[in-house]
Amino acid sequence: PYPYPLRSPWGPDPKETADHTLRFLQTCLSDPASGWRPPAAVVVEPVQGNGGVIPAPEGFLAGLRSLCDEHGMVLILDEVMSGFHRTGPRFAYEHEPDVRPDILVLGKSLSSGLPLAACVIRHSIGEASPPTTETSTYAGNLVACAAALAAQDVYEAEGLGERAAELGSSFLDRLRSVAQRHAIVGEVRGRGLMVGVELVMPDGSGDPLPRAADASRMAIQRGLLVYPGGHWPNVIAYLPPLIVDERDVAVAVEITDAILSELAAAL
Ligand SMILES: Cc1ncc(COP(=O)(O)O)c(C=O)c1O
Repeated sequence: PYPYPLRSPWGPDPKETADHTLRFLQTCLSDPASGWRPPAAVVVEPVQGNGGVIPAPEGFLAGLRSLCDEHGMVLILDEVMSGFHRTGPRFAYEHEPDVRPDILVLGKSLSSGLPLAACVIRHSIGEASPPTTETSTYAGNLVACAAALAAQDVYEAEGLGERAAELGSSFLDRLRSVAQRHAIVGEVRGRGLMVGVELVMPDGSGDPLPRAADASRMAIQRGLLVYPGGHWPNVIAYLPPLIVDERDVAVAVEITDAILSELAAAL
């Protein structure tokens, strides 16, 4: 289970959700009658992306790290979406002190558009699988690798991480203020420039409103690229390029406002 405060069986408090999720995991892993055999590895996104832009509540990743150490499980962090300054620091797991993955999965912004993915593997694990045992036709493509190195220089030189953190926080504030006018918004959440708007039924039940695909079609018609996410899917996901500015954010919020009105009117 992943802690999802808005829909947590233990209530909406992020810290309590994280604590209960960890306790549940600990119980299942320790109790021989739970039916769980400790798995070899745990794979988790520090900010769940397609699952609905759900940042891991504070303390969850550190707790998971401890559970992995205690039960001999490998901690694999998937930062394909959240990595390379999208949420501010280079990796989203850095929001929590003392969390280090055993395997880090990277892609997308690694090379800023050119096709490249990578697994960064702790030496003691990587030894079991030397580089020559894993290969593919386009592995180590030189142009993509050069693009990745250049992208790292740009992220640092242009301070895109700090910028993502600042713009993301103003994006969240603006979206939250617009959301107050729309009964179909259950939550606006995110970290840096990884932002989600969760749609709910307007009857106050909090039940998911599975209209994220409609929302993304309406957005594209207005010139805004978002994509549908969430379990139902009922989350409008925003992952703009890190070079956007305040004006772009303002336009995105304006278009979102219009889309929310249109979605509600069509119900
Ligand atoms: C979080 C996450 N992990 C893994 C992948 C898969 O990456 P790739 O398309 O490079 O295989 C994606 C793709 O969208 C993703 O969002």
